[in-house]
Amino acid sequence: MATGTQAIVADELELLAGRVDEAVAALKTLDAGAQAKADALKSAIEAFHKAGLTKVIQLLKADARGRELLLEMAAEPAVYALFSMHGLIRADLATRVVRVIDMVRPHIQSQGGEVELDSVEDNVAFVRIRGTGHGCNSTTPRLKSEIEEALRQHVPELERVEVMAEEPEPVLVQIATANEDQGWLKGPETSELHDAKPFRWDISDDSSVLLIRFDGRLQAFRNACAHQGLPLDGGMVDIEARTISCPWHGFRFDCQTGECLTAPQAQLETLPVRIKSGHAWVRTA
Ligand code: FES
Repeated sequence: MATGTQAIVADELELLAGRVDEAVAALKTLDAGAQAKADALKSAIEAFHKAGLTKVIQLLKADARGRELLLEMAAEPAVYALFSMHGLIRADLATRVVRVIDMVRPHIQSQGGEVELDSVEDNVAFVRIRGTGHGCNSTTPRLKSEIEEALRQHVPELERVEVMAEEPEPVLVQIATANEDQGWLKGPETSELHDAKPFRWDISDDSSVLLIRFDGRLQAFRNACAHQGLPLDGGMVDIEARTISCPWHGFRFDCQTGECLTAPQAQLETLPVRIKSGHAWVRTA
């Protein structure tokens, strides 16, 4: 759970970001000449700040203790937001692919299609694309080339995009066979769980469970990052490394044990999980 102080910091950041958005929106109401001058001022100030921040980062990186400090600083939401805004922190490959897929999805959907990222391995993105029509009339090849083009532009180091067959029925290993249901909460149907797609299951107004499926196994954790208690369900799962990266500040966790690979003292809370009657079940107490 996020502490009161952390919630206040997040609220303040949101307020500040809101002020920036409002100011940028107000610029759009100016006439073209005034808008161009305001944009030029904004770009000049940003470039000035970016140059200073880049120097700070270079100096910190040159020293072992500085590198540690840099990591600590980047874990602060305000610093992370500042670094991200200036393009000084680069999300990992899979996260950037997800962002591009999210960006093109509305366009794909407007053509009656759907796209989902399955995984990213060795610089290859594996996606599931559902077009309309069949055979020569299928729109899937066209949608694929549109997605490829977007990825080429925004994630140039990606080597190619592979389209995967429609997802087969998941085969989940039944990892517990207890008969009595006492103490267990019945969750989503197993057909809703997909490899590498974290599933958020709200068990009460203020508590949720994170289900992660991989290699036919299912793991359950309290859906609260060990760093600041923020939800992990928007995180990226790396099937090969069996890790999930927190979407907030990038801490990585082992999907099997919940161990934090970024800050060794942190740990996700694992929950007992089982598959029964086509549903996932967890015990939270
Ligand atoms: S909340 Fe900061 S890394 Fe997860």
